[in-house]
Amino acid sequence: MKVTVIGGGGRVGACAAYALQCGGLVSEIQILDANQAAAEGEALDLLHGTAFGTDQKIYAGDYAAAADSDIFLITAGLRRKPDESRLDLINRNASLFLQILGSIKAAGMKKEAIVFVVSNPVDILTRLAVRELGLPWQQVIGLGTMLDTCRFSSLIAQELKLAPSQVKAIMLGEHGDSMVPIWSSASVNGFPLTGLPCMNTAMQNKISERTRGSGAEVISRKGGAGWAVAISIREVVHAILLDKKCILPVSSEQQGAYGIKDVCLSVPTVIGRTGVLDQIEIGLWPREKLGLQSSARALQETFSKVN
Ligand code: LAC
Repeated sequence: MKVTVIGGGGRVGACAAYALQCGGLVSEIQILDANQAAAEGEALDLLHGTAFGTDQKIYAGDYAAAADSDIFLITAGLRRKPDESRLDLINRNASLFLQILGSIKAAGMKKEAIVFVVSNPVDILTRLAVRELGLPWQQVIGLGTMLDTCRFSSLIAQELKLAPSQVKAIMLGEHGDSMVPIWSSASVNGFPLTGLPCMNTAMQNKISERTRGSGAEVISRKGGAGWAVAISIREVVHAILLDKKCILPVSSEQQGAYGIKDVCLSVPTVIGRTGVLDQIEIGLWPREKLGLQSSARALQETFSKVN
């Protein structure tokens, strides 16, 4: 399987390429970036490690060479300027994103290719990609709340001194301020987390809020996330590659689950080789369902303002 990382010269793209290299399942990784020197530098650095790896082909390329990719992983994007509003950034990123989509289309792509959007605001850009590319909606996936879910489970494990891989706690909705922590199904090795004596409302709120603020917490210390987002990307790529049919909180165009349509956000989504196989309306607490619906409204309002 070939993955082209668009924005692979930046932090998130390079970290994702490294995670995929370490994962050892992707056979070919192409690094593409508007900054050609950065793309070449990252590709070379990754290539230097291939001898102790799994014989992957890794190189810097361009859109023409990307046409036979199985997955287009888009991580390219701009950061907010100090005096810039969120919506201004959205419009600047949307126009950059539209250029990228135009270049992918112009160079051509395989009929069954998957477009995997990571750039922010991810739910908005995923919807733009569905609208612009003319691919079946099932082939356009956004990272959505995968990273928030990873952070949520890891922070619960840290707080409660549990094994992180045994904690399953999901975030759904928007990858942003209105993300919804799903405590109703949070578990540790199958046991309900809410059954633990220490897991009272105050503890739930503390961990939910820390998770919601995690992106900002990392930005304030090192400028932006890289490692955990890369691990989250790898989880989705491997689910596609191995046709795992696992349920993941990725973003995709909603078809009516939880009464939500005409927006991209994260609900329990079955992922396999052809992309989204299903969106499943699993029973949630009423306040969680309401949270999802209010995420949908917030995203619909933002999308209507995107130029
Ligand atoms: C974050 C960015 C990657 O949440 O959206 O850190």
